[in-house]
Amino acid sequence: MKPFSKETYIERRNELKRRVGSGLLLFLGNGEAAMNYADNTYHFRQDSSFHYFFGSDWAGLAAVIDIDENREIIFGNELTIDDIVWMGYQPTLHEKCELVGIRETRPLAELDTVVKAALAKHQTVHFLPPYRGEHQVWLWELLGILPAEQASKASVGMIKAIVDMRNHKTPEEIEHIEAAVDVSVDMHLAAYRTVRPGMTEAQIAAEVERACLSQDCYKAFPTIATVKGQTLHQHRFMNTLEDGQIFLLDAGAEDPMHYAGDLSSSMPVGDRFTDQQAMIYNLHLKTFKAAVDTLAPGVPFRQAHINAAITLCEGMKEIGLMKGDPVEAAHTGAYAMFFPCGLGHMMGLDVHDMENLGEQYVGYPEGVEKSKQFGFKSLRLARPLEPGFVFTVEPGIYFIPELIDKWRAEHQFTDFICYDRLEAWKGFSGLRNELDYLITADGARVLGHKQKPMTIEEVYAARG
Ligand code: GLY
Ligand code: MN
Repeated sequence: MKPFSKETYIERRNELKRRVGSGLLLFLGNGEAAMNYADNTYHFRQDSSFHYFFGSDWAGLAAVIDIDENREIIFGNELTIDDIVWMGYQPTLHEKCELVGIRETRPLAELDTVVKAALAKHQTVHFLPPYRGEHQVWLWELLGILPAEQASKASVGMIKAIVDMRNHKTPEEIEHIEAAVDVSVDMHLAAYRTVRPGMTEAQIAAEVERACLSQDCYKAFPTIATVKGQTLHQHRFMNTLEDGQIFLLDAGAEDPMHYAGDLSSSMPVGDRFTDQQAMIYNLHLKTFKAAVDTLAPGVPFRQAHINAAITLCEGMKEIGLMKGDPVEAAHTGAYAMFFPCGLGHMMGLDVHDMENLGEQYVGYPEGVEKSKQFGFKSLRLARPLEPGFVFTVEPGIYFIPELIDKWRAEHQFTDFICYDRLEAWKGFSGLRNELDYLITADGARVLGHKQKPMTIEEVYAARG
């Protein structure tokens, strides 16, 4: 798929200038990050906002947009002969920047001069909250703001403008997201085909990641490949799969332009789910449908979350693990015993899109505070949905022994939860499915051209 034209980047920067209005916008690109010594680095990943406005995927760059003087400058250093000997040829900085419509380039050391000159003439310097230690030090040097104060002094105007632009995906961005989702489906199909008793989680993860790397993609986040699905983000591969267990995969690719896919799947390790597992799996599918049926422009995503929670509580009541009014159980937060996370999150250049800029800005409308209550506090997206929003839907059902014990000891939600019966379910683990959605002018559609198995019949068919 083609990279975006330089006009895309020029228009994005012009739109940002219009929205922020005045001042100097400062963007720090990402550098190489040392894993255990300087030359042994983590996989390089450009900062997503830098990538969105400047397209450039090279390490060690920074940029400013001087709205008042209408100037755009990328700062970086040309490679030395030593760099070229070890890392190979790269285009010159000027050539890299020309591709995204930037004509003015300067050595990295001159960023300090430009920022200090802006401060000296009392020009507002807008910057984003840093998430890397190197950037905290850099901002401290450039602006004299201590790391502990940087997040609260970041530019709310710049954050809100970027969030609003990046929250609304354009058709060319959606093409890239769908390409990432298609590769993500292949990653999941590899797991459905491979999972068998006796294999290790690491062996399944290897097959999953092969499907990604072999298509020139990199994983969008650390792969979760586990038979301990009750742990929401289990990033270590520690177990050997046994017949009778549920295997949970949460994995996704980012395409070469860094747009993410994010899918989850749950499948039996053996040939078939047990009756109990099938019952919970089918209840989970009902919650999924309740959520998806809610999606439409203007409807708060929080409503989809609540509808999934109500359906979950109704099912749990039928099974005998909950009691009372399911609607009340959903609204009070009792549902979080089985579903302690949010229904989904925005997705784009980041798998949790712009989480570094603040979920309050990304996922909540002006004037609505994110809850601090267990369960609701993990709802990253709650706002009314708008055409162009891309997000995940990922309800799950989890039996977390430590949470059961804690809530029981604290007598939490005793009107809703049947603790005596729940004891026997502590070893169930957990399951979820996850798909990616786009809000359209009149509804919502699932993203990607390939279908990930969802029903039990589809799961069994994908096992081959
Ligand atoms: N796929 C990981 C997450 O959504 O947090
Ligand atoms: Mn997700």
